[in-house]
Amino acid sequence: MGRAFVYVILGGGVSAGYAALEFVRRGVSHGELCIISNESVAPYERPALSKGYLLPEGVELVLGTGVKSADVKRKTLLTTTGETISYKFLIIATGARALKLEEFGVNGSDAENVCYLRDISDANRLVNAIQSSPGGNAVVIGGGYIGMECAASLVINKINVTMVFPEAHCMARLLTPKIASYYEEYYKSRGVKFIKGTVLSSFDFDSNGKVTDVTLRDGTKLSVDMVVVGIGIRPNTGLFEGQLTLEKGGIKVNGMFQSSNSSVYAIGDVAAFPVKAFGEKRRLEHVDSARKSAKHAVSSIMEPDKTGEFDYIPFFYSRVFTLSWQFYGDNAGEVVYYGDLSASGSTFGAYWVNKGHVVGAFLEGGTREEYEAIAKTTTLRPAVEDLTELERQGLGFAVAV
Ligand code: FDA
Ligand code: NAD
Repeated sequence: MGRAFVYVILGGGVSAGYAALEFVRRGVSHGELCIISNESVAPYERPALSKGYLLPEGVELVLGTGVKSADVKRKTLLTTTGETISYKFLIIATGARALKLEEFGVNGSDAENVCYLRDISDANRLVNAIQSSPGGNAVVIGGGYIGMECAASLVINKINVTMVFPEAHCMARLLTPKIASYYEEYYKSRGVKFIKGTVLSSFDFDSNGKVTDVTLRDGTKLSVDMVVVGIGIRPNTGLFEGQLTLEKGGIKVNGMFQSSNSSVYAIGDVAAFPVKAFGEKRRLEHVDSARKSAKHAVSSIMEPDKTGEFDYIPFFYSRVFTLSWQFYGDNAGEVVYYGDLSASGSTFGAYWVNKGHVVGAFLEGGTREEYEAIAKTTTLRPAVEDLTELERQGLGFAVAV
């Protein structure tokens, strides 16, 4: 049994949805384009987990179906239902999977009150756990994006939260200790407790298999109604290991999102692509690059002569409680702060200056125009000789660029 398509998108997440939209916008005939996804629903906006499906018309959707093996020489994919699907062009949009506690030697991920958050079924499970723990206690494992955003949601839902993570401060991949401390103080003012510099050691379970207590490596024992785990992700590259070149844990692609096999493209979280401004490949785990890489890859496939190399400045953001920040560029080099980092609810930010140029910018509580200004600044990378003067000008420096 088999079917053949001109274009196959493997994966049904954010980048898959945007790639499909772009194919349809540019014009594909019925039967030319197929999406294969092991999720049972059409692509949706994962950040909001909003059920706002990205499904365009005229696309063959093979849902609830995983791909279990790929043969890039033969240009075929074998699905879990035993079907062989062949392609002329393949876009790998398999994203990433949440790391499991078991990978750190702790058992219990299957307990009904232990929650991860990657897809709609995870979100439904989390909502159920929240609804069955009114006024209860949650431990949030991990101090990254999922940990911080879920902790805020739990507090809003009147659940007592203790965050546990191994680093000295939250959001360690992106934030400096000084900026992280601003957010931790704000969270503390909303009742969140932090236990830093340690990790989970084991769970205790009741007779129904629910987790009742969490023991940490430092010996602390916490009684819980629910546990939320956000300890990072791993890109889903397994189908292509040994067939395509990998880099930075993802599939290595060029500025056209083409992998080491010219018929195969990779986009979104799974792709390691050249970021021109940094002179190196990066794998980004954010929705803006998922959307834009999808568009660019489709353009590379459909109009290769008119498509240049991807030119992209990384963009990350988050919104929790009444807080809202944006970050553009690279967090490398010396950090220059501006604004008041001590008061809650204020506007503040930082620039990263590397080799005499502004390469990164962070802003909390900005206006649309101010965010546009820091985005433009990191794109233009202006030279800065005097860091004290940059500090004095603060946000005004970006606004004047
Ligand atoms: P994505 O994970 O979206 O999709 C991968 C798809 O491939 C899934 O449908 C999966 O089932 C499928 N798949 C994998 N292997 C398969 C196989 N073998 N066979 C068939 N199908 C397979 N970013 C940001 O910038 N701002 C934000 O606020 C947020 N917020 C946010 C909240 C939450 C809860 C999450 C989980 C993530 C975010 N993100 C974010 C990150 C952002 O959502 C992420 O970068 C994009 O979803 C990446 O899109 P992809 O298409 O690469 O992967
Ligand atoms: P992350 O990489 O942001 O954070 C992982 C965290 O896990 C680290 O900060 C660390 O504190 C913790 N950790 C690592 N090892 C641990 C261990 N052994 N025990 C306990 N904690 C440990 O990953 P995440 O928060 O799981 O987020 C998953 C993905 O979702 C990421 O790709 C992220 O970019 C994406 N996401 C992005 C946003 C956003 O951009 N606003 C929001 C939600 C999710």
